[in-house]
This record gives sequence, structure tokens and C-alpha cells, in this order.
Amino acid sequence: MILPDPIVFSKPLHVWLGILTLLFILLQISVGKRIIKIPFWWHRKVIWKIILVLAIIHGFYGFEIYFLS
Ligand code: HEM
Repeated sequence: MILPDPIVFSKPLHVWLGILTLLFILLQISVGKRIIKIPFWWHRKVIWKIILVLAIIHGFYGFEIYFLS
């Protein structure tokens, strides 16, 4: 394993990162569609960067678990 995958609240970290990624994508769509009314710069400047980082790390775990272990 290149990145360690510790158990957090009895589930591996990569599982939590996947759930968080899904929640942030739903938040991004909700702000984009004006369902959640927070300032729009969160959509254009903040949330997508959080999604990008979470998705890259989560995806890397998937690659590592499937191909490298
Ligand atoms: C995970 C990435 C993203 C998702 C899932 C997403 C999703 C959405 C959705 C569902 C809408 C509403 C579209 C509509 O009702 O027609 C929207 C609107 C918009 N998004 Fe995003 N978005 C993402 C990233 C971004 C980024 C990176 C930017 C700019 C830096 C951006 C800028 C905008 C703008 C300006 C609108 C308003 C468009 C309008 O109302 O005419 N979005 N987005």
C-alpha cells in the first residue's frame, strides 16, 4: 500500500472518502440548481476543488486496492 488506509469509526478511510465525495457532489448540484441558497461563489470557487481532491484520493485508493494489493 502506497497510502495507508486506516480504519475510522470501524470502516476503512476510503469508504468514508467515497461517501464524502458523493455528498459534496450532491451539494455542488444543489447549489448550482439554487436548491441550497448559499452564495454562488461557493459553487464556482470552493466546492468543486474539494470534490476534485476527494475524488482523486478516493479513486487512488480504489486503484491501489484493486491493482496493487
Ligand atoms: C463537480 C463539478 C460541478 C457540478 C456537478 C456542477 C453542477 C451544476 C449544475 C447542476 C448547475 C445548474 C445548471 C442549470 O440549472 O442549468 C450549475 C450551474 C452553474 N455552474 Fe456548475 N457545476 C460544477 C462545477 C462548476 C465550476 C467548476 C464552475 C465554474 C468555475 C461552475 C459554474 C457554474 C455556473 C456559473 C452556473 C450557473 C449557470 C447558469 O445559471 O446559467 N460549475 N452547475
